[in-house]
Formats: sequence, C-alpha cells, structure tokens
Amino acid sequence: MSFLKEIQKRRTFAIISHPDAGKTTLTEKLLLFGGAIQVAGAVKSNKIRKTAVSDFLEIEKQRGISVTTSVMNFNYNGVKINLLDTPGHKDFAEDTYRTLTAVDSVILVIDCVKGVEEQTEKLMNVCRMRNTPVIVFINKLDREGRNPIELLDEIETKLTIKVKPLSWPVGIGISFKGVYNIYENTFSFFKANKQKIEKDVDKFTSTDDPGLQKLFGDEAKILAEEIDLVNGIYEKFNTEDYLDGKLAPVFFGSALNNFGVKELLDSFIKIAPGPQSRETTKGILEPANNKFSGFVFKIHANIDPRHRDRIAFLRVCSGKFERNKFYYHVRLNREIKFANPAVFMAQDKSLIEEAYPGDVIGLYDSGNFKIGDTLTEGEQFMYKGIPTFSPEIFRELWLTDPFKSKQLGKGILQLTDEGLAQVFIQTNGNRKVVGTVGELQFEVIQYRLLNEYGAACQFRHLNYYKACWVVFDDEKDIDELMRIRSHNLFYDKHQNLVFMAESPYQLNAVKENNPKAQFLFNIEHNTETVELDKVA
Ligand code: G4P
Repeated sequence: MSFLKEIQKRRTFAIISHPDAGKTTLTEKLLLFGGAIQVAGAVKSNKIRKTAVSDFLEIEKQRGISVTTSVMNFNYNGVKINLLDTPGHKDFAEDTYRTLTAVDSVILVIDCVKGVEEQTEKLMNVCRMRNTPVIVFINKLDREGRNPIELLDEIETKLTIKVKPLSWPVGIGISFKGVYNIYENTFSFFKANKQKIEKDVDKFTSTDDPGLQKLFGDEAKILAEEIDLVNGIYEKFNTEDYLDGKLAPVFFGSALNNFGVKELLDSFIKIAPGPQSRETTKGILEPANNKFSGFVFKIHANIDPRHRDRIAFLRVCSGKFERNKFYYHVRLNREIKFANPAVFMAQDKSLIEEAYPGDVIGLYDSGNFKIGDTLTEGEQFMYKGIPTFSPEIFRELWLTDPFKSKQLGKGILQLTDEGLAQVFIQTNGNRKVVGTVGELQFEVIQYRLLNEYGAACQFRHLNYYKACWVVFDDEKDIDELMRIRSHNLFYDKHQNLVFMAESPYQLNAVKENNPKAQFLFNIEHNTETVELDKVA
C-alpha cells in the first residue's frame, strides 16, 4: 500500500468523559465491533478506585494494566483505528490532557442522567485549545435520564459548542424503544444485550412513513414532531464545522447494551479526520512529509522497581518509522535506534517493524525521554503544543534523610519527566514545592521515591491557589514583583518563572500592579535542559 494510502486509512482518537459516564464500557464495545476482542470484559477498567496508602501496590498494578490499554488499534471497514486510552481517575487528568495532543479527534461520553459534569467541561476546554473535532455520545439511555433537548441545551451552553443530533431516542429509561437515525431514516430497536452485537434495523422513507405509524401507533406522531423540531432548531450537519471543532454531532445509545455503538462507529469512520498536520518550532508539518518525525506525549514507568526502564509513547506525525533505524533525539542532540518498538492491544503487546503518521508506538526507554521530546530524521525542530497546566494542590517536599538528597533530586526529576507531578524551586531559597492535580499523586510519589530511589520524604501542606507562569518582555517590567513578592516566586524545572498565587484576590492585585507581565494558568511544554543541582 502506498505511503499516502497508509496515512489516509488511519483514524487516531480518544474517548473522554467524566468518570463513570461509560468511557471504559464504550471502549470495550468499540473493540468488540471492531473484532479486536471477542468477549466483553477483556478490557479492564484502569480506574484507580482505592486511595489508601496500603493500596499503593494495587495502584501500581492498575497503572500497569493501563500500559497495555494505553493504545489500542483495530481495523474496521478498511480503516485502521488507533484508540488512545485516558486515565479514568480525575487525579490523573493531566495525563489525559497530554494524550489529547496526540489525537486527531475525540468522542465525548455523557451520562444521560447526570448531563455535563465538571470533568466534561475541563476536558472540553482542552479540546478547544486545539480545535479538536468532537463527537458526543449520550450514554445510558436504558436509564431514566434527562430530556434529550434539555441535555443538548446544556451541552451547548456549558461546553460552548454547537450541536447537531444525528440520531434521536424514542423514549428513555424503561420506555426506551430505540434510536431513530435522522440521516438515514432508519430505526434500531433496543434490545438489552450485553454480549451480542446483533441488531434489528427498520428502514423508512421519512418520519411520515406509514410503517412508523404501524410500529409505534400514536408515538410515531410524537417522534415525527420531535424530529421536525430538532431539524428546525439545529442547523444541517456540516462536516467542515465539525472538523473545525465548532459543531459536535450527537449520538444516543447505551454502551453497556451495545446500543447505538455501531451507528457511532459507522459515522465516526465516515466523518472523523485522518492524521492532521502539527505545529513545530519550524512551522506546520504535514503527515505526508516523507521524513519521519514524532513526539512523546506519555511516559509509563515499569511497575517492577528492579527494572527501571519505562515506555515512552510516541505519536508518529510524519514519514515512516522503521525498527532498528537511527533517529535523531533533538533535545539530547543524539542518534538513537529502537530494537523493540511495540504496539499494544488490550492485554497484549507486539513488536512492530514500521509505523505511519497517526500511529502511536511504545519505545522502551532507560531514561532518555521526557514528555514533549521530538524524534526526527536529523532535522532540528520540536513539536509544539503540549500543554502544562497549573497544578491544583501544592505541597512542600521534605527530605527525611539528608544523606539521600541526590537520590531525591534524581527521583523527583524522573517522576516529573513522566508527568506525574510538577516541581517548583523557590527563586530566593531552596524550597521545593510539588504540585499535582490530585491527592493520589502525593502518595504515589512518596511510595515510588522510597521504593525506586531509596529516598524517604514527607510533604507539608501549602495553601497556594494556582501556579501562574509569568511571561514578560523586559526584566524591568517585573521589578516590583521580584522585590515585593519574591517569596511567592519560583522556577519550574525548565527555568520558567512562576508566581504562586495564594488566592484569586492576591493574583488580581499582582496583575494590576504588574500590567506589562502576563500571568498564565498554562504554558506549552518546553524541554530545555534541566539544571539538576537546582532540584537536588
Ligand atoms: P468510565 O470508564 O467512564 O469511568 O465508566 P465505565 O465504563 O466504567 O462505566 C461506569 C458504570 O456505568 C459501570 O457500572 C458501567 O457498567 C455502567 N454503564 C456503562 N454504560 C452503561 C449503559 O449504557 N447503561 C447503564 N445502565 N450502565 C452503564 P459499575 O457498576 O460502576 O461497574 P461494573 O460493575 O458494571 O463494571
């Protein structure tokens, strides 16, 4: 197959949702339809349900499971689908945000009972940063959920995106009968079935078809009215708007019962974009460029402390990747070859000889990679657009055994390279502050520092509100900030200046007093060399 055809047949996407909306279930059902697994239950949820200290091994085991489900690929109707998994636990949300930089589109799952939830909004904000095309799947229609129009309204207002339902539910909960495909005028009968993937479909000429009347009696009229209403309220589906991230097509179904999943998948392969061009420090690069390049968006540590090797997940962005060929690691300014690049499928992993744009490969790594690293065929550029967000929780890191400061420095750097947390060092002292998205990471860090690096540490609670990256043109512009607020000023590990705001009120005051500086809640990853002694 030609290089261009290989690119065109790939679709790389992620399923995202607030925890419990049905992401894992939908993932599994897509794999079932794609023939990648034969029975339901083959994909384990990577949710970390337990949070007690004694459950660390459990956490690690579960993290291990999520390695093998990190990227799943399967073929469906001639299309090669790469599905990137995202952590189910909200404490690992940052991992999800980074994974979103490696996909070309997403499917957003919403629970019809709960509607748009907190994490749904946050994830959508990240999609908006890159105008990622979004398809919405409203799940759990077998349960007594909210009115579909009300749900669509909520999606439009809370997620600030236009929607266009491409299917419409008939009834909900116990009275749920099935889904009418607005585009094809077909109706799929709902049959609760968790294992089988067959379905009955009836075809109609339109919603006025007498066949519908026969099927539903008076309800056919209501359905026809609702669909007229929907067609009246929502503009015609426009693929361009969807591809620009401005319009989200909406499907209804029940992932648990395999219902509406095939319709979703069939439409997905028709409309979802193939591998897209990406921004580099040297401009936009097209996937069809015949020189290989890609970037690392996720690093997974080995759960066995005796083997410190890790897996770096690389998204191929242009050209063809080949096993055992030397590639240029831009940040390290060094050629590296990979003897065992792998792809993952549910519980298995297998060696690959080559990979194309859109593919995600796992590279065994003994510490060469950081999130955001670029590999090329010798060219000097880095991929842009990997965001770092302000952590939500901050703790001061204390070394319990002063003789282990080297181990602690190395450990914390490696763990932050994996994206588990961020570390900040006070500009006028040596205080080290660790920032995370969730409480769970502190437990994981403490456990891993002790078990993998032999460094016992403690965390002291801090009441910071946000870490704000300070962007300025001239040092003079932040004179006052440096003088008056120096105890709140830190460097991140890439030497960017960060203001630790204690409250929104304090941040506003600082912004007013320093009008020429910008205070940002997120920045793009840059992988300049880290000054180890600053952290150790
Ligand atoms: P997540 O990955 O988004 O966190 O959600 P997950 O798929 O694990 O689903 C969360 C819960 O919702 C699971 O129940 C799952 O079975 C259920 N669920 C998913 N899709 C549907 C659906 O279409 N209808 C109904 N009624 N339930 C659905 P659980 O009890 O938490 O887990 P389990 O014991 O069933 O695995």
